[in-house]
Amino acid sequence: MYSAKDRMIIALDFPTADQAKELVEKIGDGATFYKVGLELFLNSKGEIIEYLSTKGKKVFLDLKFHDIPNTTAMASVFAAKQNVFMFNVHASGGRKMMTKVAEEVKKINQDNLVIGVTVLTSLSVEDVEETFQSKLSLADLALNWAKLVKTSGLDGVVCSPWEAKLIKDTCGKDFKTVCPGVRPKWSATNDQERIMTPKDAIINGCDFLVVGRPITKNEDPAKAAQMVEAEILEGMKEAGLC
Ligand code: C5P
Repeated sequence: MYSAKDRMIIALDFPTADQAKELVEKIGDGATFYKVGLELFLNSKGEIIEYLSTKGKKVFLDLKFHDIPNTTAMASVFAAKQNVFMFNVHASGGRKMMTKVAEEVKKINQDNLVIGVTVLTSLSVEDVEETFQSKLSLADLALNWAKLVKTSGLDGVVCSPWEAKLIKDTCGKDFKTVCPGVRPKWSATNDQERIMTPKDAIINGCDFLVVGRPITKNEDPAKAAQMVEAEILEGMKEAGLC
């Protein structure tokens, strides 16, 4: 069972390790989980992972692998061997790719969570139709991919909070839902469209919330993290999770 603090993953969307470290220092004990994406990982040459683990933090390595099965699985083995709690691959890489990733990571006995990315929130219905020649709604496409992720042996999905409940109900309570697009009422929406508050997101089946700008751009990030954690706790209480 994850605590309210451990369900909050702060997105370190910074170009430099120094900027990311400054935020982590400011937040101190107020957060444990951080997301590192391509920009920060590449620009810090991976060094940020080591820094976070020496600080006792847990890392969601958000590099979204997508390649042929062997190439993706070999990259996944190296991701799994780093000090990361969670990393991800694109569900659209298909069953063979995800099964191979699950098999190879299992062989090295790592306990990282391997997560499949469903429909990118930047894609509209029209984009999906044009790209995949699919008439499925975004929710049905996300659910279809979540089922594929699950039956391929991975641990959960990145999805919108709006799809988390449907995915949990279909794929089971142990199948993890990792959800960006979270906005407390007191923060700006920015460019996120299908948003939900931290409390509602937890009630609607999100296990982990990825929160960036409401915390990272706040003038008092430690306080903002504390407020998000408090909202998560409210949601957990209402959902009977604690
Ligand atoms: O600042 P904000 O809270 O919008 O940050 C959300 C984070 O989640 C960003 O790092 C963004 O890249 C990521 N993300 C997302 N939507 C997805 C997948 C990842 O917003 N579908």
